[in-house]
Formats: sequence, structure tokens, C-alpha cells
Amino acid sequence: MILSYPSGFTTLAGLALLAQLASASELPLPILKDFDDTGVLGGLYRPNSTSPSSRIGIYIMHAEQDYTSFVGCTELRERGFTVFCANNEASKSGYMSDINFEDMMLQVNTGLAWLRNQTDIDKVVILGHSGGGAMMAQYQNVAENGVSACNGPEKIYPCSNALAGLEPADGLMLLDANYGISTMGLLSLNPAIEDETKASKLNQSLNIYNADNGFSNGTQSNFTSEFKKRFTKGIVARNNRVLEHAQHRLKEIEKGNGIFGDDEPLTIPAALYLATNNLYISQDVRTLHHTTYPWTLLEKNGTTEQIIQSVRVPSGWVDVSNSWEQAALKTTVRRYLSTLAIRANENFNILADNLEGIEYDSTQMAPASSIKGVSVPLLTVGMTGHYEYLNAEKIHLNAAKSKDTSIAFVQGAQHGIYPCTECESYPGEYGDTVKTCFNYVAGWLSEQGRFL
Ligand SMILES: *[C@@H]1O[C@H](CO)[C@@H](O)[C@H](O)[C@H]1NC(C)=O
Ligand SMILES: *[C@@H]1O[C@H](CO)[C@@H](O)[C@H](O)[C@H]1NC(C)=O
Ligand SMILES: *[C@@H]1O[C@H](CO)[C@@H](O)[C@H](O)[C@H]1NC(C)=O
Ligand SMILES: *[C@@H]1O[C@H](CO)[C@@H](O)[C@H](O)[C@H]1NC(C)=O
Ligand SMILES: *[C@@H]1O[C@H](CO)[C@@H](O)[C@H](O)[C@H]1NC(C)=O
Ligand SMILES: *[C@@H]1O[C@H](CO)[C@@H](O)[C@H](O)[C@H]1NC(C)=O
Repeated sequence: MILSYPSGFTTLAGLALLAQLASASELPLPILKDFDDTGVLGGLYRPNSTSPSSRIGIYIMHAEQDYTSFVGCTELRERGFTVFCANNEASKSGYMSDINFEDMMLQVNTGLAWLRNQTDIDKVVILGHSGGGAMMAQYQNVAENGVSACNGPEKIYPCSNALAGLEPADGLMLLDANYGISTMGLLSLNPAIEDETKASKLNQSLNIYNADNGFSNGTQSNFTSEFKKRFTKGIVARNNRVLEHAQHRLKEIEKGNGIFGDDEPLTIPAALYLATNNLYISQDVRTLHHTTYPWTLLEKNGTTEQIIQSVRVPSGWVDVSNSWEQAALKTTVRRYLSTLAIRANENFNILADNLEGIEYDSTQMAPASSIKGVSVPLLTVGMTGHYEYLNAEKIHLNAAKSKDTSIAFVQGAQHGIYPCTECESYPGEYGDTVKTCFNYVAGWLSEQGRFL
């Protein structure tokens, strides 16, 4: 059903859309689209006038969070585009991690197929932000290439034929796309956990919050090189242990020896992929600190070409590893293997300009791998106020198939695109980063010959 406000909103997402209306009441009311019985719903934001750019539909969805009022919805609509900001059915409470790769892909497809059907939209361009970038990059890869893009032997958990026939988009934009939801899980895996059934017991030689290892509370940590070696080796060892355990449980489930016949709960202490649990890169900002090559830097006073330095500040002072709610990954054996697991090898290392030793092709959820199969025009944009910014470069460098790739960085934007005020040396240093970002995005979308 399609309902116009006010009769249509009976949901929290509807209320979020209403909040948007308050600040942009001159513009047409977003239309609530609820895909019956799927849990998928969104708002179609139409621009105030029809123009060639209004025939480009931007499709925004996150892997699990509520994106019906993401900043891009109004910013791109104000610049003349039609924008569909939708949610998938994944839990929005953050209490459990119920994301599941195949469900995610099918739910992106639900919105895309609907957009394709709109007679006033000619082109559909996907926008993936943060974890939505991992989801959207793999969606486009599978849509363009079929299930061979997700069912190969390199995958920990190959996809099924249910993913055949997804509707591809005409272009892909990745804004501060993370290194992959599974990679962020790897970077959150506390190697100091000795016993998977007792999160309070930490091995102090592997504990990142131990001052003897170089931890400084409230400021930049100066971890010893010996600690870094122990820590990264410890992550690989624990990741292998967890992965083997889950693979063993899957075999048992398939043999009929599981708690249930289909799947089983899996709780992994100190492994939740959310930003507050991302270890080492948060406390030591000398890691993931600069790009390998020079790129376009969008500053408030103009544009330059240079090696892009992060302006981010250290964070992550509170050890929550003993908390079920804040740090445990609460999933199931199948969901972990299909969506959240990744392999890392003995070369695993966290450098100033890269992450090494991560086998991105082993997971469905890493844009640096997914992008290799994408042929449509691609824009990657990184926010220099956050460590995920660097992945814009890695995705761009891996995009071998697309003949139309662009990359830029927004100086001083935090992950959510607003100015990173704690990164500033004086108030207003970075200007209006939202405006800087979306002016550039709108320019890219409007360039003659791309979608118009
Ligand atoms: C309506 O669209 C026009 C052309 O895109 C723009 O110049 C104008 O500022 C818009 N008005 C509002 C209220 O956004
Ligand atoms: C597209 O429109 C046709 C005709 O109205 C309708 O039968 C079909 O279900 C629509 N498909 C989607 C995905 O909305
Ligand atoms: C603690 O970690 C260190 C370094 O990895 C290791 O050598 C040691 O055996 C661990 N201690 C225990 C009790 O697991
Ligand atoms: C960090 O520690 C090393 C030795 O471990 C020392 O040489 C260096 O000066 C320290 N840096 C800071 C900023 O404290
Ligand atoms: C913008 O200002 C900064 C700081 O003064 C300066 O380093 C940079 O070169 C300027 N950029 C442009 C494009 O003028
Ligand atoms: C760092 O200091 C804060 C504030 O005093 C405290 O809440 C936190 O637990 C400390 N972190 C560690 C790892 O001790």
C-alpha cells in the first residue's frame, strides 16, 4: 500500500519522517511505502519540481539501522533528486544482532524492484553509508553477476540460489562505507578473552586497557610494538577458534545433533562489531591514519589533491568486554557464518594506511571484495574524522570492472557526515561538511553522460 501523510504513519519510521517534515515543510510530503508483510518500509522524498535530475531515484538503506531520516534523504531531495529512504526488517533496538545476509539482499531487492516500476524515475542509484555500504556493494555485485558472485568455495558460507535474479541498480555511491560488517567484528574481537564462557577473565598480556601494554585513558595510547604483535596474533587465534567452533556446531546441526534442527543461538563475548567496541584503531589514531595515494580533498574553502590524512581523535576508554548487552555478539550459528564471519591470516596487521592479512573474499560482507564485480558508475567518499574513511581508497583501488570510478574525501566530517567538532582546532574549522559532501555527490550524479 502507498499512503500519504498523515493517514499512513502508524510506525516509528513514519514518525521519523514526520520529524523531517517539520524542518522542510515547504517541500512535498514524503510518501510512506510499506511493503506488506515484509517488514520493509520507507519514505519516498520527491523534490519540489520535476527536472531531469528528479528522474534519478536515489535508494538509501542501512544493513540494520533506521535510515528513513538519514541526512542524505533531505540533502539530495533539496538538490533536485527523488530519494527513497527505506529500512529493512532487521531489529532496530540494537539489543540482538539478527542480521542475515540473504534476507538483507532480498529486502534491498524489494525496494529496488518497486523503484524500477515508478514511471517518473528512469535511473536508480544506490547509496550505501557505513554498514549499508557493505550491504549495497555486495547487493550490486550479486545483482550484476548472479549467484556465482556469492556461492564460490572461497566463501565461508556460500549463498543459495534464492539470490538469483536480483534487480541491479544503474550506479553505486558508498559514503564512509566500513571495511565490512564482518571486518568490524574482527576488529572488535577482544583477544584477551581466554574462556568463551567467562567474559570477566582477561589475559592481561593481551588486554588493550592495560597501562603496562601502553594504554592511556582519555588520550592517545602508545602501545608497545611487542603488544601490537601479541594483540594482532591474538585476534587471529581467537577468530580461528570462534570460526572453528561455529563450523563444528553447523556440522552437528546438519547431523541432527544440534539444540535444534535448523539453527542454534551463538553468543560470542567481546565481539560486537559496533563502533564502541572497535579496538586498537580507536585508541591509537596513528593507525588507519593516511591514504596510500593522493586523492581529492573537499575542504570548506575549496578542493586540493593530496595524501589524505585523518583528523580523527582517539576514543574507546571504557572496557565493556564483560557486558552481554554492550559487547557480546548475539547471533546464531548460521547467521554468524553467513553474515558476520571472516578469515584473517598470520599476516594480519593494522598499519597507518591499511589493514593487512584480512581475507575479504571469505565473507559476503566486505566492500573491498564485492566491488571487484561491480561495473556501473561508482563513487566512494570518505569522512576524514573517522577511521572508516580509509576504506574509500581501498574500495576505489579494487574497482577494476567499473570504467567510471570517482573518489573524494570530506575534510573534518565525522562518520555521520556532520562536522567532527572534537576534531577541530577552532570552532567551524571544517565548515558545513554536510553541504560540502552533498554538493559534491549531487555534482557527480548530474554530470552529463553518467545518468543524464
Ligand atoms: C525548489 O526547487 C528549485 C529548483 O530545484 C530550487 O531552486 C528551490 O530552492 C527549491 N525550493 C525549496 C523550498 O527547496
Ligand atoms: C510493477 O507494476 C505492475 C503493474 O502495475 C505490478 O503488477 C507489479 O506488481 C509491480 N511490481 C513491483 C515490484 O512493484
Ligand atoms: C596470555 O597471552 C600470552 C600472549 O599471547 C600467552 O603467551 C599466554 O599463554 C596467555 N596466558 C593464558 C593463561 O592463556
Ligand atoms: C611511545 O613509546 C616509545 C617506546 O615504546 C617511545 O620511544 C616513544 O617516545 C613513545 N611516544 C610517545 C608519544 O609517548
Ligand atoms: C584551505 O585552507 C587550509 C587551511 O588554511 C589550507 O591549508 C588549504 O590549502 C586551503 N585550501 C584551498 C583549496 O585553498
Ligand atoms: C577511563 O576513565 C573513565 C573515567 O574515569 C572510566 O570510566 C573508565 O573505566 C576508565 N577506563 C579504563 C579502561 O580504566
